[in-house]
Amino acid sequence: MKKWYIYAAIIVAAIIGVILLLTNVISDEESTKDDTNSVVSSKPLPIPPILEDKDPDPNRAEFHLTAQKGKTEILDGIESDTLGYNGNILGPVIRVREGEKVAVKMKNSLDDPTTLHWHGLRVDGENDGGPHSGIMPGDTWEPEFTIEQPAATLWYHPHMMQSTAKQVYEGLAGLFIIEDEVSDSLAIPKEYGVNDFPLIIQDKNIDKDGNMKYEPGMNDIMMGLYGSSFLVNGAINPFLEVPQGMVRLRLLNGSNGRTYHFELSNGQKFYQIATDGGFLEKPVEMTSLQMSPAERAEILVDFSELKPGERIKLIDSGSELSRTVTDEGAVELMELIVSEESTEVYEIPEQLTKIDRYDVEQANVTRDMVLAGVGATLTINDKTMDMTRIDEEVKLNDTEIWVVTNQRTGTQGGMPHPFHLHGVQFQVLDRDGNPPAENETGWKDTILVHPGETIRIITKFEHIGIFMYHCHILEHEDAGMMGQYEVK
Ligand code: C2O
Ligand code: CU
Ligand code: CU
Repeated sequence: MKKWYIYAAIIVAAIIGVILLLTNVISDEESTKDDTNSVVSSKPLPIPPILEDKDPDPNRAEFHLTAQKGKTEILDGIESDTLGYNGNILGPVIRVREGEKVAVKMKNSLDDPTTLHWHGLRVDGENDGGPHSGIMPGDTWEPEFTIEQPAATLWYHPHMMQSTAKQVYEGLAGLFIIEDEVSDSLAIPKEYGVNDFPLIIQDKNIDKDGNMKYEPGMNDIMMGLYGSSFLVNGAINPFLEVPQGMVRLRLLNGSNGRTYHFELSNGQKFYQIATDGGFLEKPVEMTSLQMSPAERAEILVDFSELKPGERIKLIDSGSELSRTVTDEGAVELMELIVSEESTEVYEIPEQLTKIDRYDVEQANVTRDMVLAGVGATLTINDKTMDMTRIDEEVKLNDTEIWVVTNQRTGTQGGMPHPFHLHGVQFQVLDRDGNPPAENETGWKDTILVHPGETIRIITKFEHIGIFMYHCHILEHEDAGMMGQYEVK
């Protein structure tokens, strides 16, 4: 009679045994991609070049880009296979002015199809570079558009269905900087590479042979990929000599899945002056800055109180989420070394720009966007991406409120999703009914939505065409956490 219990106990024990064995195998596999965090690099921070404008006409710019395969020495003395635009890894900075006409010739010299998406740019759907604008190997894509938005730090990256995560991870990304009269007139550092530095921050898994191939596991697809090596502008833990004075840093979280909390190792405060889509009205003082994938921020840091030769570090203090995924605490991203040189004296400006607020009363339409994830099934409004289906139809020049909810699901309790909208910059109305944080009161195109949270955003749709909205954890996007809206 009691035998039933014995059998059950044996079966349970066997199952537990198998599970333990499997976990062991998995963690062994993971440890072969060993922790390169401790590799101290003596490399200076690479500064991406500014791409030459091939058109002498000051009101028109022409840029040539080639997506290509390359080799990059990321670990000392070891070359990794990487992808880049006009180079081995990442791409040059495209710098334009508001009002300028821009033509791009983008050649695909990769073995696979790709696209070139202008993240944050307000252009028509056919120039947006989403998944419908595939460029076959050997082909050239030639978008043309006019810059109709204020000074900002945007970026560009590929957007092929199901290979965005791989292509970005392997190196395809670059900055797209817009200048205007406001950015010209502000008394802030603006000498590129001297006191105005781009920082593209990414985490990757690189094994001791330099293998940086995109090989996500099931957990990476569910949680977004977390790497154990941290790259800034394509180099591991680099150093940067900064003048003994005010410095402007243009930060891009170019990671596939990780959200950072940036801090300086001396606890020094800094000032955020710009969000995804341009200047804030006023600088926001802080000692820690949260950035989810695809978000940008410009910050001012004053090094004038430090002595020449002093070294401080830019660190990620580690978020709750990164701790649950990787169990690492704070990590060092790069070193800042104060040099002898000081530049002109800058003050933190009182006022940066003026932002016209959308009026809730003007909204023609309100739409719900429900983000949900159960295991590897990641949906928006219960659907996964289908390129042949238009999910939302928007009338040209309508102002709309989008109510974005991150639904708590199952036992997991859910995870934060950075929600991104193509073709527009939006304003945040509220988070769970509360006004947004001060540094979210500027133009945004990507916003982190926490589990159980509802965020209302508002924007006006001024460009026609087909556009995407999606989670910018690239593993989630590739898994189908994306939808399409058409403006006409
Ligand atoms: Cu950064 Cu759909 O884009
Ligand atoms: Cu985008
Ligand atoms: Cu997501």
